[in-house]
Amino acid sequence: MLRLALIVLLVLLAAVPALAEGRGAVPLRAGAAGQKDAVQTVRGGTAAVAPTRGAAFDGVTARMRLAGRRCRRGAVVALADGRRAGVRRVGTRWRTHRLRARGTRSFGVRLRAPARCSLLVGRFALLPAGGEREAAAPAPAGDAPAEAPAPAPAPARTAPVVLGAAVDAASLDGAPGYAGTFLANFSSLTAENEMKMEALQPRPGQYDFKVADRLVAFAKTNGKRIHGHVLIWNQQAPRWLSEASALEQLTGEGAPYSRDELLAILRDHVSTVTARYAEDIGHWDVVNEALTPDGSYKPGLWLDGIGPEYVTEAFRAARAADPDAKLCYNEIGAEVAGPLADAVFGLVADLRREGLIDCVGFQMHVSAATPPSQDAVRQNLERFATLGVELHVSEMDVDVSKIAGDDATRFAEQARIFGLVARACHAVAACTRFTTWGFTDASTWLGETARPLPFDGAFQPKPAWNAILAGLSGS
Ligand code: G3I
Repeated sequence: MLRLALIVLLVLLAAVPALAEGRGAVPLRAGAAGQKDAVQTVRGGTAAVAPTRGAAFDGVTARMRLAGRRCRRGAVVALADGRRAGVRRVGTRWRTHRLRARGTRSFGVRLRAPARCSLLVGRFALLPAGGEREAAAPAPAGDAPAEAPAPAPAPARTAPVVLGAAVDAASLDGAPGYAGTFLANFSSLTAENEMKMEALQPRPGQYDFKVADRLVAFAKTNGKRIHGHVLIWNQQAPRWLSEASALEQLTGEGAPYSRDELLAILRDHVSTVTARYAEDIGHWDVVNEALTPDGSYKPGLWLDGIGPEYVTEAFRAARAADPDAKLCYNEIGAEVAGPLADAVFGLVADLRREGLIDCVGFQMHVSAATPPSQDAVRQNLERFATLGVELHVSEMDVDVSKIAGDDATRFAEQARIFGLVARACHAVAACTRFTTWGFTDASTWLGETARPLPFDGAFQPKPAWNAILAGLSGS
């Protein structure tokens, strides 16, 4: 049966910080996918966001890419204030189409993809009236305004921040001192790799819970909470899945799994894993790193095969399989304001409206050479707190390999950075968990020179450790 291959993907909103008014975002609402003729209509510029209400626009650009077998041609039809407008193609790899129509208040853009093709809209940008400069307009992942509602008075913290660490099973089995250091200092465990899809479903439909079960037993026996990581991610998918997808990208010969099959795989994985650990795992990272720094969806097997709705589908499956679990979206690089934080905010707001999400993880992989400021981290947390979700510092480490000085100098700077993030977390009552990605420099994904964690290779506390404890206690 011919696969309806229209997936449209997106669109979303356009953050338009460069508008004359200098603020705000313009939500571009996605229309319903037209199933018969593989058309998705996206209407934009409806001025639903206060800062841009009444503003006029001089143009719009849409970046798109067709994916799928023999997909070379697509079409763009644009409407400006209800009338057909000319569109110029200006890009090559990602096709960028540009429409100019001075003083327009409403844009509609129809993107047509031939049957069997997926249309990936990577970016949808409005051009501010009266200015040649293209407003930054990543296509964030939801149609919610990127602006947070006016802040209510911040609620007071009622419970201490849970302090956790990622643990890897091999070190737990091997290194003397590893288990003891974790048990003595942390109250929450995240499996660094052992609950990822490649580990849990090494062959199609065949699950292997051996190692994950051991970690769960270790945590339970010792009275530790478990944070589940991660159900759906483009990386560390099993080879039978990721290589199939890569082959399709290379040859264009068609996916070995249809969209429906891939959706079934996603639902089966999410529900099998969450249901198995329903008694033991209170929080799950349902989807990890779905977005890019510019706020668009990150290409990968799930996006390419299903479309951006894979994110919602994963959350739906998790909610259905374990209604009591708290479901998180986990992102890298969204810890301070910017296009990515805006996009995450929009995505989380959308999921929240459907009652599908309870928490957001900010990974916080920091290079000591480019640390964030405490204010920037706190303000970002405060903004997300307005969504009514728990916030987590989910994977913090601070790589000191790129800063100068002796160990004392570098570790002092590292401690300062851990401390400022811990204080920012403590300052926002919605921030309920602070997890480091590993805990000893003897075992870190960043390698030997990074020395990014609060305990050294011999499990002795570094200055960062006291800085974390002090920060989380509010001092
Ligand atoms: O599983 C193989 C094993 O069979 C083989 O013997 C071994 C030899 O190198 O490699 C093993 O795979 C490694 C895997 O970790 C499991 O240990 C991969 O090479 C290695 O690349 C992989 O790295 C992990 C990385 O995610 C993958 O992207 C890191 O340990 C893990 O710390 C890191 O964690 C991610 C979070 O999940 C999400 N956020 C970012 C964070 C850092 O990248």
